[in-house]
Amino acid sequence: MIIARSVSELRKALDIKGGSIGFVPTMGALHIGHRTLIDAARKANDMVVVSIFVNPTQFLPGEDLSKYPRREEADFKICELSGVDILFYPDVSAMYGEDEVRICAPDVRGFILEGASRPGHFDGVLTVVMKLFNIVRPTRAYFGKKDAQQLALITQMVNNFFMDIEIVPMETVRESDGLALSSRNVYLNAQERQEALKLSSALKKATEIVMQGNTKSDYIKARMEETLLPLDVEYVAIVNRAFESLDEVVIGDTIVLVAARVGSTRLIDNVWM
Ligand code: PAF
Repeated sequence: MIIARSVSELRKALDIKGGSIGFVPTMGALHIGHRTLIDAARKANDMVVVSIFVNPTQFLPGEDLSKYPRREEADFKICELSGVDILFYPDVSAMYGEDEVRICAPDVRGFILEGASRPGHFDGVLTVVMKLFNIVRPTRAYFGKKDAQQLALITQMVNNFFMDIEIVPMETVRESDGLALSSRNVYLNAQERQEALKLSSALKKATEIVMQGNTKSDYIKARMEETLLPLDVEYVAIVNRAFESLDEVVIGDTIVLVAARVGSTRLIDNVWM
């Protein structure tokens, strides 16, 4: 595995290899969910590039940038064992200069739900993903469905800017008890981890209600909110794939989302119907 720490090192490594490129952008603290993305990239492409970069521009003031988990040694090993060809591991100065041009998230979809709780977050995500896409020039890029709004906005950016990259959405990977894998789960103590299961339970409740034939969003959201008690819930939402609010679940075009704080950790989860 080649480890590239600058854009020029990465470009040199890409020139040596050639062929189709499967790209998995990450912020490190890799877990089985990332492994699933890497495996999918491995199967469909000649070469796999993973980036590990804790992107400062997607953290709001007061968020967990400085304490975001960093696991350099373990991450390098996971990449190596997963058959990654090139690991891009830049520092902030390799990615950002002074007073730069930025990508703006769309006015509506970028500022609802996650964007309302974290205004400006998606500007930072889209800016760094645009930079990474321009550096790596992937054939396909792999993103988890757990960050559903991020996935939708990156797909929209690729379409809006006529970029020739296939965005591949991948299923959320869960622990056996239903907890969605997330790098932020390391912040949870044993009791909080137990409480965090309320997110996946609420989504399971939503699925059960729909399977029983009740598709009314207000009813589903009310039952979910009961299941989530006594967590500090930021939002429960039912939207279509374009992130427009739905009064009724439409099978094949619905995402049910939840965001809640467990202790001081903010968690998100969703189910696609
Ligand atoms: O999902 C993430 O890990 C990050 O938001 C991403 C896409 C790597 C951009 O920093």
